[in-house]
Amino acid sequence: MCLVNLRKYTDMKKSDIIIKLKKTLERKRFEHTLGVAYTAAALAMCHDADMEKAYIAGLLHDCAKGMTASEKLKYCKDHNLPIKPVEYDNPSLLHSKVGSYLADEVYEIKDREIADAIFYHTTGKAGMGLLESIIFVADYIEPGRTHDPELPIIRKEAFNDLNKTILHIYVNTIKHLQDTDSPIDTTTMIAYEYYAKQENNGKDNQTH
Ligand SMILES: [Fe+2]
Ligand SMILES: [Fe+2]
Repeated sequence: MCLVNLRKYTDMKKSDIIIKLKKTLERKRFEHTLGVAYTAAALAMCHDADMEKAYIAGLLHDCAKGMTASEKLKYCKDHNLPIKPVEYDNPSLLHSKVGSYLADEVYEIKDREIADAIFYHTTGKAGMGLLESIIFVADYIEPGRTHDPELPIIRKEAFNDLNKTILHIYVNTIKHLQDTDSPIDTTTMIAYEYYAKQENNGKDNQTH
């Protein structure tokens, strides 16, 4: 009985979130959001994570995308959130930081793991937890994505080895940023080095 009530409440919460998101996001961004939510739930199913949390984190990961650059900068200043030079140069990067606060303030999801997964979904970070890893990967591989010719390989990797997938995403993202002369966040470089080291350590262990 209790479980049925909880389930109903959660379903109601999810549809409330979807209705709100549909009002604030452009159509393509809204479709991407649904793609990330379903992909995150599938990855959670595969890697023994909480499917409900993965789905909600996926729904909310881009919830601040509807804000303009100046609205995001103002939000950070009003809430005393530090802004890095690379974020001043490219305020779009702030949508993950701002989104992690909107999840609580606007969408009433008070969950540290979900907030962290939203906070780090753009750059990732060294040593991501399971939910953070799932949202980072789901954002890159959801069915509507077409930006990386290696997506068919990366999508298969994602259901086999999350850390290997994260490294693959960093390698391809950094190459793309370098090729297009775009700024690279230091968090991205530190995280890339972390996952490259993890992969090498894994290979060393296999050969000894
Ligand atoms: Fe995003
Ligand atoms: Fe996204």
